[in-house]
Amino acid sequence: MNKRILVTAALPYANGPLHLGHIRSTYLPADIYARFQRLIGNDVLYICATDEHGTPIVAGAEKEGKTPQEFVDYYHERDEREFGQLGFSFDIFHRSSSEENKKMTQHFFEKLKENGHIYEQEVAALYCEKCRRFLPDRFVIGTCPNCSSEGQYSDYCDSCSKSLKTGEILHPKCITCKTTPVTKISKHYFFRLGSFSAKLEKWLTTNPYLQKEVANYLLNWIREGLADWDISRDLSWGVPVPGEKEKVFYVWFDAPIEYISGTVAHTKKWEEYWKGESEITHFIGKDIIYHHFLFWPAMLEGTQDGFRAPDKIAVRGYLNLEGKKFSKSRGWFVSLDDYLSAFPADYLRYYQTSTTPHSVTDADFVWKEFAAKINNELVASLGNLIHRTLVLLQKLNNSTVPSPEGLEADDNTLLAKITSTKEEMEKSMLSFQFKDAQEKLMALSDDFNKYLSSKQPWKEKDKKKINNCLYVCTRGISAFAVLLQPFLPFTSEKLAGMVGLGEKKLLWKDADAELLLPGVKIEKFEPLFKKIEDEKIREMENKLGK
Ligand code: 2FM
Ligand code: ZN
Repeated sequence: MNKRILVTAALPYANGPLHLGHIRSTYLPADIYARFQRLIGNDVLYICATDEHGTPIVAGAEKEGKTPQEFVDYYHERDEREFGQLGFSFDIFHRSSSEENKKMTQHFFEKLKENGHIYEQEVAALYCEKCRRFLPDRFVIGTCPNCSSEGQYSDYCDSCSKSLKTGEILHPKCITCKTTPVTKISKHYFFRLGSFSAKLEKWLTTNPYLQKEVANYLLNWIREGLADWDISRDLSWGVPVPGEKEKVFYVWFDAPIEYISGTVAHTKKWEEYWKGESEITHFIGKDIIYHHFLFWPAMLEGTQDGFRAPDKIAVRGYLNLEGKKFSKSRGWFVSLDDYLSAFPADYLRYYQTSTTPHSVTDADFVWKEFAAKINNELVASLGNLIHRTLVLLQKLNNSTVPSPEGLEADDNTLLAKITSTKEEMEKSMLSFQFKDAQEKLMALSDDFNKYLSSKQPWKEKDKKKINNCLYVCTRGISAFAVLLQPFLPFTSEKLAGMVGLGEKKLLWKDADAELLLPGVKIEKFEPLFKKIEDEKIREMENKLGK
């Protein structure tokens, strides 16, 4: 085997703290996939970066009295730290404001222009004569023409959720100096997205890996006609448009290119992943389907520079919090930081995987459900199984893995179940069904618990039977140490360390092998999981909305 697999997770904007919704839709599934692909021996690169351009970032920096650079530096470092605490195994966590990305973005532009996919057009834009600059959407506030709510950004009304077109907002004012802006003509660059319609349609209908529900509604958009795309902005923060002053690319032009630039920064062999034989897989949330399924493949294709459309794009839905939308301003929010200061990373990974099928359905984060999942499944089934096994091994066989002798039918059935679980999980993992894979793993844990309860080695008189039961259970332990890796990396590492497998590279194919040899001693161990107390959950619930 040994395939080249490039995995990317949508770049988080460097303009605010990460919250639980980002984790569920994008970074966690991408991490599970990347870890799994490494375990089956593939050559994997998992790329991510902060998305550091765009007007919300310039506006956010101004509001805090910082330069855009200082502003993004802070969030880049913070995101990197928090992602690390969740065990996300990026090969590189880069930045879209990097030199590599500036070069690659300008290269894309030149190629697209050379190939006739870019044209110039004059457009009317709002200009503040006092600040002497053009005012992109986020720099203009006014009254919503739909619901009359005041103080809304000119591109979107937060009160009635309506997207607004340039010029629609009533009583526009410059956000900085509150002057009424004037309309001025400005030259912009447009990408001929419409001319890629036929190619995109073909790709969407022939790529077997794209989710049908997503492809179908993209096809509707294509059939309704794709508008060309303004890829420039009158701004100084961003990737400069070659040959222009005070013009940069629209953030959505340079952001996906950073997937490539991050690879360039990581390895000289970047072209093997992007142009050679490889599998390019993007993980995204459903709000950015348009950009990844239409703009991005068209951009790649349009360069005629050896790039091709992505092979797989896994799209997932939104996360609500206790039945309502996450909202930082209303305090209806759990930042990663809040979460991590209260609970282990693996609990979040487990809970979120358990609520995330491979589809665009939304989910709800509910603190009580979170606690119930951890307590009833991780603590009561898996944690209990492993702890019981190690205690029994200590009591009944001097902490030593016994040799099996004359295994009986139920012993062999359970050993065979390890193999079939591994194989079934593998199928689920390759088709992005991580929830199913995790459920299969937990079903194996339940089977082991049932086996142990029916065998009752603590009551057994026949030493041979005791040993066989303990042996089968230690095979279970090593299987869990392997199969847990993509899902609960901290737990699997702890478990492997406890049973003396910490130094060994545990590969997926070895999950059903005899990794713990008869004679091995396992003397020091402790429970893998701790029960979540109701009081702690009440505390987290009480923080909401404050
Ligand atoms: O929607 C977002 O949060 C964007 N920052 C995602 C960018 S993904 C990519 F294309 F870079
Ligand atoms: Zn102004």
